[in-house]
Amino acid sequence: MDSVFPGTEQLVLCDDRPSGLRAIIAIDDTTLGPGLGGVRMKAYPSDAAAMLEARRLAAAMTLKNAAAELPYGGGKSVIVVDGPVADRTTLMEAFGRFVLRTAGAYLPGVDMGTTTADLATMGTTGADVACDEEDPSPWTALGVWAGIHAAVRQVDGRDDVEGLTVAVQGVGHVGADLVRRLAAEGARLLIADVDGDRAATLAAEVGGTVVAPDAIAAAECDVFAPCAAARVVDATSLPALRCRIIAGAANDLLADASLADDLAARGIVYVPDFVANAGGVIHIHARRAGWTDERLEQEVRAIGTRSEQVLEAARRDGVTPWSAAVQIAHQRIAAARPASAVTQPA
Ligand code: NAI
Repeated sequence: MDSVFPGTEQLVLCDDRPSGLRAIIAIDDTTLGPGLGGVRMKAYPSDAAAMLEARRLAAAMTLKNAAAELPYGGGKSVIVVDGPVADRTTLMEAFGRFVLRTAGAYLPGVDMGTTTADLATMGTTGADVACDEEDPSPWTALGVWAGIHAAVRQVDGRDDVEGLTVAVQGVGHVGADLVRRLAAEGARLLIADVDGDRAATLAAEVGGTVVAPDAIAAAECDVFAPCAAARVVDATSLPALRCRIIAGAANDLLADASLADDLAARGIVYVPDFVANAGGVIHIHARRAGWTDERLEQEVRAIGTRSEQVLEAARRDGVTPWSAAVQIAHQRIAAARPASAVTQPA
């Protein structure tokens, strides 16, 4: 039977008339645990676009949490707003009640447009929320750093990045931290940000070079680290890339999964975004599970090992790192699925 919603385990359309809340919760897969993923709040051109984004991001969270060996499935939600929100507390409480109705199948966190205070408000309804005042970005940066080192090890057979040129797109919470780590190890940094002052200040601090935001993806470098927008690699940008490795924090980097083949054909080694940028979700789990900071650091650094395993599996099996990582994630999910849940086609 053809499925209208292939791959989305549960889709909740939320319409709360008293508060005016309109939202979509997409729970992609709960085999490994509750569908963990952020709440995004923004305007969308249509309800269909909002639904597509929620489902696409939820599926990515399934891969990210499974690849990071965390006890969570994948979920994501979007709150659709058309303008300024008059009563944010009422809106977040209303959303929290919908989260509560999922009976633990959806575990919301912070995403674009929402804050830890919003999550705390949702939690007042009794809903479980992944809410922590602490900024996870340094942990995400550490994971990306480990992913870059793994790729350099595979491509160049070396453990250091001294003298290598790394182009970082976006030097906000994650990118700036990554730049400082790499600069301290002797890498040459090319830095771009749409906030020109931010790029210039950081470049002066680390002795890097500022590059225009629209030129960074095509800059000649060893490593391109996208730490800003989604879908940076598309059919237009791909032919212009002049890097040997791509590893960064930005989610949903490939406009289309087939671009992983094109990257491989060009000899560019890509550490899949959902493998490299898992430091944030590992941080969420660490706080929920009561890990020490030492354990957290160890687990985030293990992103380097996981990246190496992915790159090695890709090389061994003659597939792209993207396919290898998806397969590893799917195998973890399949191994956890009860045998009785596997249905055979008639
Ligand atoms: P941020 O908002 O702190 O920093 C993003 C930076 O990129 C800002 O300085 C912004 O001015 C700049 N920027 C935006 N568009 C740009 C463009 N087209 N060209 C150059 N610069 C541009 O965001 P944050 O937290 O550093 O996250 C970066 C990326 O990593 C985002 O895609 C985010 O979804 C992803 N990510 C972040 C995690 C975290 O722990 N913060 C966890 C996992 C993924």
